[in-house]
Amino acid sequence: MSETVISVRGLTMGFGDHVVMKDLDFDIGKGEIFVILGGSGCGKSTLLKHMVGLYKPMSGTIAIAGMLMDPDDGETFRRILARIGVMYQGGALFSSMTLGENVALPITEYSGLRGRAVDDLVRLKLRQVGLEGFENHLPEELSGGMKKRAAIARALALNPEILFLDEPSAGLDPISSAELDALILRLNRTLGTTFVVVTHELSSIFTIAGRVVMLDKTTKSIIAEGDPHELRDRSTHPFVRRFFNRQPEMET
Ligand SMILES: Nc1ncnc2c1ncn2[C@@H]1O[C@H](COP(=O)(O)OP(=O)(O)OP(=O)(O)O)[C@@H](O)[C@H]1O
Ligand SMILES: [Mg+2]
Repeated sequence: MSETVISVRGLTMGFGDHVVMKDLDFDIGKGEIFVILGGSGCGKSTLLKHMVGLYKPMSGTIAIAGMLMDPDDGETFRRILARIGVMYQGGALFSSMTLGENVALPITEYSGLRGRAVDDLVRLKLRQVGLEGFENHLPEELSGGMKKRAAIARALALNPEILFLDEPSAGLDPISSAELDALILRLNRTLGTTFVVVTHELSSIFTIAGRVVMLDKTTKSIIAEGDPHELRDRSTHPFVRRFFNRQPEMET
């Protein structure tokens, strides 16, 4: 694997005394498209929120670009935040603001840029996701796929090295979903952005994922890790094989 950019060690996550996942270990390489899979409620979003420092682990560590994630260490936390972009599940745009204003928000907040420089950057970001010329539109004037792309433009605003996307294609038709996959691949190839994506759409997984981890609610652990095509063809775990081959449980 290439240089490691995210390193998760002995990560146990939960809320109160409810443990969601325990003792997770995995690495993500620079420039990888890494997909997190698993059934509803197993802890995918929770894992992503731990990786961006929104939640604190019960135990274990997460390192981003060699820096230990610790929201209590303000200086390091800010340095990490400057290198990542996030689109949360259902990641909505602010509905009363135009697309341009939505994308400008993180730029004016964090970059120190003002005026024309912000406008130029906003135009560039919208162009990168195929929404050039839509600066003055309100989110309600866009299709679902366009809204997702605009949310990605906002997450890209500060040129992150790592982009976290939680179910980016949820609710999209197959064509918009395929377009989103193409966008992720293009950004990955042209900008070298590392992607951490939560999705359970098989077509998307086979198209974009270099590597996946599959979380399992029952054992609260990772039950599969690797290339999705290999897992489909060679996994010895019956559930993993069924998932990637889209077979129902009853079939023998
Ligand atoms: N802020 C929170 N406080 C308490 N419990 C939480 C919180 N966030 C998530 N949980 C619980 O953690 C578990 C995992 O939730 P999570 O949202 O991570 O699942 P998920 O795999 O993303 O599911 P989905 O596929 O439906 O998005 C669930 O039992 C959920 O109720
Ligand atoms: Mg989720």
